[in-house]
Amino acid sequence: MDRIVIEGGHRLRGRVRINGAKNAALLIQCASLLTDQATTLRHVPILSDVATMSRLLERLGCAVEGDRTLAIDPAAVAQGSLEAPYDLVKTMRASITVMGPLLARYGRARVSLPGGCAIGARPIDQHLKGLEALGAKIQLVHGYVELRAKRLRGAGFVFDTVTVGGTQNVMMAACLAKGTSRLENVAREPEVQELATVLVKMGARIRGAGTSVIEIEGVDALHGLDHSILPDRIEAGTLAVAAAITRGDVLLEDAPVDHMHAQIAKLEEAGVQCRVEPDGLRVIGPEQLEAVDVATQPYPGFPTDMQAQIMVLAACARGQSLVTETIFENRFMHVPELARMGADIHVNGHSAIVRGPTKLSAATVMATDLRASASLVLAGLVAAGSTEILRVYHLDRGYEAIEKRLRKIGAQIKRYHGARA
Ligand code: EPU
Repeated sequence: MDRIVIEGGHRLRGRVRINGAKNAALLIQCASLLTDQATTLRHVPILSDVATMSRLLERLGCAVEGDRTLAIDPAAVAQGSLEAPYDLVKTMRASITVMGPLLARYGRARVSLPGGCAIGARPIDQHLKGLEALGAKIQLVHGYVELRAKRLRGAGFVFDTVTVGGTQNVMMAACLAKGTSRLENVAREPEVQELATVLVKMGARIRGAGTSVIEIEGVDALHGLDHSILPDRIEAGTLAVAAAITRGDVLLEDAPVDHMHAQIAKLEEAGVQCRVEPDGLRVIGPEQLEAVDVATQPYPGFPTDMQAQIMVLAACARGQSLVTETIFENRFMHVPELARMGADIHVNGHSAIVRGPTKLSAATVMATDLRASASLVLAGLVAAGSTEILRVYHLDRGYEAIEKRLRKIGAQIKRYHGARA
């Protein structure tokens, strides 16, 4: 297993280009199943999650080639098993979003239930209720969801809770249903909007993506497409925090500034300069950060995928910050690891009180999930001494070659292949 070692205390300076968005890429990979024509995706981030999704597409019968530019040919899916097996779904929950496309295009699908995960129980009841509303017959058998429908039919559906994946799954299915669907209380995340843009390019008729009501007029067939994936707002936010806490000055080229308002507002509140420049977002860290209160919310609120990272900023900031997690019930796994580096964090239910400024000190720490790992890298950038991060595979799910990119802007960071001798 790889590990990453960081010598803390170096200011970050320079330019770094933001990669394509993981969570958009994964869903567009799923959307490629809605047609039997080939799809080409560009600006694809090279991540283990994207590779896992490609493996799933291959198991379903697609021919998949490339990495930065990904060519997906689903022509042979009809002859395949139409099954997403447990071994892939358990490594990556986003696999369940093949459900909607397979059901809509082929009339049936068999998808493993994902089970819980490191950050919470994460049920999929809303995915199933939404597909049922479109006419799917659903059975749970031996840990698998089995779905059938000759042809889905358009319907109204109100989500009980705002869910990104649920919105995307049902939206994709509704594209090939007979008649019009009206989905209410949907997620407004940029990755939902991006998926809608892609589906429209494929011939779907969708209105309202980016608002809380989406209307979809079903069509008989969709076609392939060539699409370049939007930049990742969470990667950009993570690198922005890296610049902020190291008193750095970094230009995040192509940062999707319009999707980062909540993040930028919090950085500015902490005293960070965020300048929108023609090439992207320039982030300049102050000599002393100030405490900020943050509560995660569905978009356009502050993203849960940035909660762990902002906690490191809070630890470096002067004063007491209150960080509240409202989306997932167990997303404070980074706290004990940050505490081992000296952070003063007190968790009470869904909130954490962070008192700073703390001079973090390097330690050997263990990554537990993707964003928790990112927070440990950030802590390592400012900690005195040499921080060693184990279980780096969590990081590789969502950050492409993070060590190379941070090194380019001045971090002392190295990856070692294999365990310590
Ligand atoms: N929920 C339900 N029932 C459902 C679906 C969701 O109760 O049927 C609950 C979840 O348990 C959670 C909340 O609703 O408490 C929100 O979950 P959501 O469905 O929105 O999350 P997701 O679609 O599974 C995506 C991202 C996550 C990101 C969340 C929230 C992808 C592939 N994943 O997950 O990304 O945290 O939205 O924004 O798009 C990450 O990139 O690190 C990551 C975890």
